[in-house]
Amino acid sequence: MAMVLSISETHPAPPCSIVILGASGDLARRKLLPALYNLEHCGQGLLPAETAVVGFARTQMSREEFRTSSHEAVNKYSRLKVEDKCWSTFQDKLDYLGGLDQPDGFQRLRQRLEEVEKARGIAPNRVFYFSIPPEAIRSSIERLHEAGLIRDPRDKYFSRVVVEKPIGHDLPSAVEISQTLQHYLDESQIFRIDHYLGKETVQNLLVLRFANTIFERLWGSRNVSHVQITVAETEGLGTRAGYYDHSGAMRDMVQNHMLQVLTMLAMEPPVSLDASAIRESKLNLLRAMRPISIEDAAKQTVRARYGAGILEGKSVPGYMQEKGVAPNSKTETFVALKAYVDNWRWSGVPFFLRHGKRLPKRETVIAVQFHHAPKILFNRNANLPPNVLMIRIQPDEGFSFDVMAKRPGLGVAISPVRMNLHYETEFGEDTSPDAYERLLLDVMAGDATLFPSDTFVHKSWEFIQNILDAWKDDARVPISEYAAGSWGPEDADRLIRSDGFEWLDP
Ligand code: BG6
Repeated sequence: MAMVLSISETHPAPPCSIVILGASGDLARRKLLPALYNLEHCGQGLLPAETAVVGFARTQMSREEFRTSSHEAVNKYSRLKVEDKCWSTFQDKLDYLGGLDQPDGFQRLRQRLEEVEKARGIAPNRVFYFSIPPEAIRSSIERLHEAGLIRDPRDKYFSRVVVEKPIGHDLPSAVEISQTLQHYLDESQIFRIDHYLGKETVQNLLVLRFANTIFERLWGSRNVSHVQITVAETEGLGTRAGYYDHSGAMRDMVQNHMLQVLTMLAMEPPVSLDASAIRESKLNLLRAMRPISIEDAAKQTVRARYGAGILEGKSVPGYMQEKGVAPNSKTETFVALKAYVDNWRWSGVPFFLRHGKRLPKRETVIAVQFHHAPKILFNRNANLPPNVLMIRIQPDEGFSFDVMAKRPGLGVAISPVRMNLHYETEFGEDTSPDAYERLLLDVMAGDATLFPSDTFVHKSWEFIQNILDAWKDDARVPISEYAAGSWGPEDADRLIRSDGFEWLDP
């Protein structure tokens, strides 16, 4: 039987109420309600009987209507198949209140919470999940405060606030949001969600690096020639023009998810597994990232948007033809960039980041490529490919390591062979919780390990701000176009080839 070493137990949530502000929106339907249902479904008491989930939004709807629409959403998006018995237990926890935008909306929320808590015997522990646009954060936090819904952090019971990305639009607006939050809340009450940190494979980066001695010894410029991080998506804009056309790929993916992955991959070993120690290591890595100056942006960054093309056998329109996109839009749907980490470990090693929408397939992968073997012995006249550690974040989670091996036979012929760990084969199907399941549970349990600190958010804005500033000048870094269904513009290939490398495909 395989050995299992349990390092920390899953912490069941304490009894509490989860208020979803913006409960009729896309995020609540696609991610939050299905995640909460899955926690119920998994059993193990992860979601105790004394839990209430209160939807709070502008739309007026009855509790029954909310339960019906939640059922539809969970049926559609849940990881686990919805079972009647389990649904019935879950739906008893669901409540709804409309009128978030009404002057007395938050006072009524307080009354409702008190009623629900009394009726169900729930301790007044409360989580407020802000599934709302960033411009609504300030007024919501002020109104929570006015309604007396924010407790002193030393109180026996907790109030916690969860904010979703994007946290701001640029550095000044991110700082402003932080100041507002910190005016009313203690840092221990603020949970900033970056759902990439809740992904199993992103968490596994810590285990891969610090539970194995071999990788840690190889990790750095002595052995690694370069690192690639690719986040490819097949989806286009969909119905998100209102948000995305003002944001673009750099703000939407690089500022948060990709820099989080990069720091998890490249940080120094933390002194412990405590939230603060891990956050500190990640922050130090970010601090060591070399700023890309406005002058260097032309050499080190590429921006592009998709044109019409063929994807998965179907014709799809270009970005400029999508509904809701401004006729003079300059929004990028593709970014490639080359970054450096100026510390001892990574000095001189380029990190190539690439993200785009409407690419040929959905995949998030990290490739760590090692140096070529020296031109002696087997490699004297051959051109042996280098070893590559490929970490597949999603889908098809797992990792592989390419090594050279002698092909069986009387002569000496060498081939690359792949050692492959495939999560599903190894651990079984449906064993990976969705990122939001993990993160919601952590918020309820008060574990901040997987949540970015305010300083991290600010530093990551600082890193991309120079690039965004350089992009304001079209002549300096022109926006190019790529056909939907292709791997992006040729400029992205030129960027990596100028260092003698190629984008790798798992
Ligand atoms: C979101 C972005 O944060 O992450 C989306 O706003 C993107 O544009 C999504 O599609 C990707 O998440 P995942 O988990 O599907 O890789």
